[in-house]
Amino acid sequence: MESFDELRERFRREAASIADREAWEALRLDWLGRKKGVLRSLLARIGEVAAESRREFGAQVNELKVEVERGLEEIGDRLAAKEREASIADRRVDVTLPGRRPRRGSLHPVTRVTEEIEAIFAELGFSVAEGPEVESDFHNFEALNMPPDHPARDTQDTFFVEGGRVLRTHTSPVQIRTMLTRKPPIRIICPGRVFRFDNDLRHSPMFHQVEGLAVAEGITFGHLKGTLEAFLQRLFSPETGVRLRPSFFPFTEPSAEVDITCPFCRGEGCATCSQSGWMEILGAGMVDPRVLRNCGIDPDIYSGFAFGLGLDRVAMIRYGIPNIRLLFDNDERLLRQVDR
Ligand code: PHE
Repeated sequence: MESFDELRERFRREAASIADREAWEALRLDWLGRKKGVLRSLLARIGEVAAESRREFGAQVNELKVEVERGLEEIGDRLAAKEREASIADRRVDVTLPGRRPRRGSLHPVTRVTEEIEAIFAELGFSVAEGPEVESDFHNFEALNMPPDHPARDTQDTFFVEGGRVLRTHTSPVQIRTMLTRKPPIRIICPGRVFRFDNDLRHSPMFHQVEGLAVAEGITFGHLKGTLEAFLQRLFSPETGVRLRPSFFPFTEPSAEVDITCPFCRGEGCATCSQSGWMEILGAGMVDPRVLRNCGIDPDIYSGFAFGLGLDRVAMIRYGIPNIRLLFDNDERLLRQVDR
């Protein structure tokens, strides 16, 4: 049997090599374990000790136990300190690292152009009116002077919805809704999504329009021309030339198609404007007296002008986007490119 001195010596030797929790726990079990621990085995053998030495033996066992417990505690503290340091080092934050910059979102080109146009017309005294995208035949066609057999309906490539409704082919029905519910003077613009059965590089089955409507006493074609010039020169540039050509729409009389000097070549002639120096940008005219009457407005007292333009076209011109589908592909790279 080892002497108490030898046991003490053995414990110190074993304790000196402890470097982690696992070894520490093994050491603790070896010495203090309730079943096979060294100290427990010593006490189990007290019967073999001569009766007169038992008291002394018991005291020695106790002394050894105290020393083992203290030794284990010290090593345990040392390990805990080491663990704490490691975990601090682990979570260390390098405050000199550059931060992660959140990427700024940006508005869609069509949204931007819409907001710009709304701002220009707000200055001219127009407010924004909106209406449903699924429309009745009455609001989209009939009230606009297109009865069921009217040939102009064919040009609208309409999507029909159950129950005789249609996806609105233009935002003109918002003008009808406004005239039916409000009394002149009326000055509104109607931006929104419209739908036509048409799909190629320059046409998308869903696109955007802004239409404008002014109804009051004494509104003339001159007001229309002046308003469009002011609008187009603010939207493009103050030097933009504006030209009106006679045209036809069922809901306006007289009607005009409106061209601007090509924003790419400033009227010199280039591939985009087919060397003409001009670009068609909108349709306009004096509200047909029948349309006013359909909405309960007396054409003998009131007159009005209306116009409509495609927002997608404006966005494509403004941002040099060659293909209308790029606008609706939901490719974020487009947003990043136009965000300048
Ligand atoms: N609603 C017409 C279209 O979609 C545009 C337009 C509006 C023309 C108002 C004249 C007056 O083509």
